[in-house]
Amino acid sequence: MNISVVILAAGEGSRMRSDQPKILHALGGKPLLTHVVDAAQQLQPQIIHVVVGHKSELVRKNLAYLPVQWVEQTQQLGTGHAVAQAMPHLPQSGVVLVLYGDVPLINPTTLRNLIEQAKHSGLALVTAKLDNPTGYGRVVRDAAGRITRIVEEKDASPEIRAISEINTGILAANAEKLAKWLSGLQNDNAQSEYYLTDVIAAAVADGLSVANVLPVTNSEILGVNNRLQLAELERCFQAQNAERLMLQGVTLLDPARFDQRGTFNAGKDVTIDINVVLEGNVTCGDRVHIGPNTIIRNAKIGNDVRILANCVIEDAVIGGGSRIGPFARIRPETVLAEDVHLGNFVEIKKTTVGRGTNINHLSYIGDAQIGSGVNIGAGTITCNYDGANKHRTIIGDGAFIGSDTQLVAPVEVGADATIGAGSTIARDVPPGGLTLSRVPQKTVPHWNRPQKKPIT
Ligand code: UD1
Ligand code: MG
Repeated sequence: MNISVVILAAGEGSRMRSDQPKILHALGGKPLLTHVVDAAQQLQPQIIHVVVGHKSELVRKNLAYLPVQWVEQTQQLGTGHAVAQAMPHLPQSGVVLVLYGDVPLINPTTLRNLIEQAKHSGLALVTAKLDNPTGYGRVVRDAAGRITRIVEEKDASPEIRAISEINTGILAANAEKLAKWLSGLQNDNAQSEYYLTDVIAAAVADGLSVANVLPVTNSEILGVNNRLQLAELERCFQAQNAERLMLQGVTLLDPARFDQRGTFNAGKDVTIDINVVLEGNVTCGDRVHIGPNTIIRNAKIGNDVRILANCVIEDAVIGGGSRIGPFARIRPETVLAEDVHLGNFVEIKKTTVGRGTNINHLSYIGDAQIGSGVNIGAGTITCNYDGANKHRTIIGDGAFIGSDTQLVAPVEVGADATIGAGSTIARDVPPGGLTLSRVPQKTVPHWNRPQKKPIT
């Protein structure tokens, strides 16, 4: 059976108090609407339409990557009106599923159940029982327990307001029937809007028995109206990420202090300490240890890597057995081979490093190609920028770079070369041998230090 999806996202979301449309606000590092589209895609629908209105240009530009069709609703005349804008673009048979751009955690399992129900009954709703139903439309049932209609809170009598079963807004309906019900909607209600919820009474009038399904968890039906709710849903989302990882065999020292804003694939016996943020696509091998307060974005980490506390790693490959940090910064286009040590206060960028090389303290290495078994002493700097262009530094296998060396690029150091501490290397260094550019040390004997002048 055809499934077409309509996602309502035309509203302004004024309670966000933002210049940005609500559905562009991020949850888990990705826009709210993207979460909804991802959930919808799991149902393999024929088509996904998103109804946009408020700042629609901006939404379409920012989310151009989504596999959806955009439908304009120039005036927000209600949820029923919004769905009606999409109807002419949908297949006329099959099931239409209505979702909301600001309800990001909806579970595909719930949606599959809903669609099954709609196939049989013609119309099915996701409803929920809430301790505090304030603000939601209430589900009204007859004496036999059959759904008869939905009443919006603003239109509800005190008796109806006392009902705890609410309409989540999410529904699925037979396409042909839905088109007919929508065309009959009126706006004679408290908000003068065309309510999607009025299709329920229309379906009952047509003799249908309206079905409902309950969500797997109540958090999946929660919407984002303000930043407080956004933060609450962020925690729900992160709790789900953490739970999934722990069940997959990852140790999280504190699941409440772990944030995944992208995809993360981990091998066996990976341990993650507190306040680790993973962004983009991160993969890591077996027995990796990630220390506290570390941010990793788009990285491939080999087996047995130890990342100590307070590191920032972006767009990098870290070979197996390497030890990083504490306080290391690995910038984009860095590729470390196996067993590399990159210690504290080392910044490295656009550099390849060979196996077993050590860069242990206080260095800046940029635009470089470093061989294997190299030792880079404390305070070594690649002077890669002349004020206009970047230049490369090449260091051969087995070289020893003494502490406090400046390598003025472009420059090449041959294999097994030794550079004396404190050197400024501005010309290529041959392999082997000792190269140093140190000013000869001298001593002035009997040196009298300057004395403070007496105060007059
Ligand atoms: C709606 C339901 C209510 C339900 C609640 C769940 C109706 C009439 N009521 O109420 O029963 O309990 O959701 O949260 O459907 N939108 C458009 N175009 C419009 C109007 C709304 O795209 O013209 C979009 C909004 O951007 C929003 C969604 O539809 O994402 C819901 O609209 P909103 O006005 O928040 O409906 P509620 O009053 O919350
Ligand atoms: Mg709402």
